[in-house]
Amino acid sequence: MTKILAIETSCDETAAAVVEDGRRVHSNVVATQIELHRRFGGVFPEVASRQHVLAIAPVIEQALAEAGVSARALDAIAVTHGPGLAGSLLVGVNAAKGLAFAADRPLLAVNHLEGHIYSNWLEAPGADQVQPADNFPVVVLIVSGGHTELIEMRGHSRYRRLGGTLDDAAGEAFDKVARLLDLGFPGGPAIERAAEGGDPAAFDLPRALRHDPVHRFDFSFSGLKTAMLNLTKRLREQGLDLRDPHLLADLAASFQQAVADALVEKTAEAALAAGARQVCICGGVSANRCLRATAAARMAELGVPLYIPPFAYCTDNAAMIGAAAYYNWLANPRPEDGLGIDVHASLPLPEMVD
Ligand code: KG4
Ligand code: ZN
Repeated sequence: MTKILAIETSCDETAAAVVEDGRRVHSNVVATQIELHRRFGGVFPEVASRQHVLAIAPVIEQALAEAGVSARALDAIAVTHGPGLAGSLLVGVNAAKGLAFAADRPLLAVNHLEGHIYSNWLEAPGADQVQPADNFPVVVLIVSGGHTELIEMRGHSRYRRLGGTLDDAAGEAFDKVARLLDLGFPGGPAIERAAEGGDPAAFDLPRALRHDPVHRFDFSFSGLKTAMLNLTKRLREQGLDLRDPHLLADLAASFQQAVADALVEKTAEAALAAGARQVCICGGVSANRCLRATAAARMAELGVPLYIPPFAYCTDNAAMIGAAAYYNWLANPRPEDGLGIDVHASLPLPEMVD
């Protein structure tokens, strides 16, 4: 039995969790900064790191207390060291170093993207959700505010990047279009709420790079964003009020369906090409019900089992970092980093060499 305390501060959530054997979540504390950043319409990096400084110690204490363990009873301490905002990452990394040194525990550095991937392996609260089996290859779609990546997993901690976005991340597109529709921050949940009851086929919006032989597994959302900008301009010129709930619902529903279609189509193509035995979707945007339903329907057609974490594990959290740390530690019991780890704002996912 391996118990890991994991710490995550890569963006605007201060989070700590205790996870056993990469799957069982003993505690999962997330102090969100959404309210602080709302008035800026996005994450304000200096404000984020200052808030992490205030929140980090109580969040760690709460995670240990809820799990009923002391720092010395842990097997290791894990922390996100990138990618993310450098000033935010530093707060978590420094806290983890201090704790690892004081409690004389190994310190494991985790890539935030690997964390999202492993959110799928966490046992869900309520436990009616099934986790993926160790049945590879697995094709993983990571869709968050900063990333949209298609990954093939050939085994635990063995990744090959198939493709990703050429411009905006899917979550970024949600956030920008929400601003365009005056829906506030964060955009994803706001668009999902506004879309309720809307017609996803009301407006004809582009699905970029469809059947593109060069960018088979890549995405592009800037054209969709521009299409939404032009569409809303045209509707306003026609004298329509975009605050009208029916019109707003149609706009939001058409937009999220366009994003979901683009994401799912490429994921299905990747699953077929890789001979995937399972497909996983993760990251903040995977909380979106339209994406979940579109993916479920398409993967059922293909006959490939689909896994998407429960909502609490879709957006940033530390439990997923604890899961990734565990599987990495199994693969490499003697990580070199230790107390020498540093933050890396643009850290790529480590790819296998063979
Ligand atoms: O994974 P995450 O919490 O942070 C990053 O690592 O980026 O993802 C945040 C992103 C934001 O862009 C947010 O708008 C989006 O996930 N998001 C959603 C939903 N919930 C969060 N997008 C669409 N529908 C949602 N329900
Ligand atoms: Zn994230």
